[in-house]
Amino acid sequence: GPRVLSTVAELRAALAGAGRVGLVPTMGYLHEGHAALIRQAQAECDLVVVSVFVNPKQFGPGEDLARYPRDLARDLGVAGEAGADLLFHPDAAEMYPDGHATTVTVAGVSGPPEGASRPGHFDGVATVVLKLLNIVRPQRAYFGEKDWQQLAVVRRMVRDLDVPTLIVGVPTLREASGLALSSRNSYLTPEQRGRAAVLSRALRAVQARAAAGERNTARLRQAGLDVLAADPEVSVDYLVVVDGDMRERAHVDDGPMTRVLVAARMYGVRLIDNLPLWDV
Ligand code: PAJ
Repeated sequence: GPRVLSTVAELRAALAGAGRVGLVPTMGYLHEGHAALIRQAQAECDLVVVSVFVNPKQFGPGEDLARYPRDLARDLGVAGEAGADLLFHPDAAEMYPDGHATTVTVAGVSGPPEGASRPGHFDGVATVVLKLLNIVRPQRAYFGEKDWQQLAVVRRMVRDLDVPTLIVGVPTLREASGLALSSRNSYLTPEQRGRAAVLSRALRAVQARAAAGERNTARLRQAGLDVLAADPEVSVDYLVVVDGDMRERAHVDDGPMTRVLVAARMYGVRLIDNLPLWDV
């Protein structure tokens, strides 16, 4: 299985002389979605580093930092099976020693929709991702489309700050029901997970309306909101159609970056998902 390293110094030593390095940043409790990122990294790189760090800076007060699921033994199995060579598992003091004072803010694309619901979240993400990129200095880093706005924030940051890493986006892995895999699904019972597939059905309904010729953003949104409204367990945070810069327009454009994003609370758990408006 992968070697576990918990300090920056140990990791740097293990990386000395490595060829093409791929990084897969995670918060652990790995599932098949994470494994897909690791497998793609393994196929494209000589050495794969998986980081497992539940980053306190990206959780707001009242969010699930304390109860976020953790199981390093299991993570080692999943990561090893998928082809990881090194597992970087720092503690918070290693990443944020006393006196740590720098925060990375990516303006604009860190705002609505997700950034409006989770103030400061993307500052925490950008800060930890830039640190991981600087620690590992990978040729490639892998991120899931599951967190579409996060991927946009990371791409913008890497462009703006001249980080010499290629950012690779990987399509979302789903259960047969359509539910996007997520570590947070572990908060749900199997029956509740079945019900949570309503989110992906809402996204599909928006796609169907677009395929039928609708270009008006408000009416496209309504097609998805109608599906969600039919389930009383769903409390909608947002359902929007956005362009590649996370902007809502009155009318959608036909490009591949047009995306439907949804966030909702079900059974006390906040779930997010997204799909391209146009299926390829
Ligand atoms: P985490 O939620 O553990 O996700 C790690 C990576 O796996 C992210 O790039 C995420 O988009 C991807 N991922 C999660 N579920 C997926 C699925 N069903 N299909 C494909 N990819 C999926 O995202 C984070 O951690 C953190 O914000 C992090 C980037 C590690 C910074 O702390």
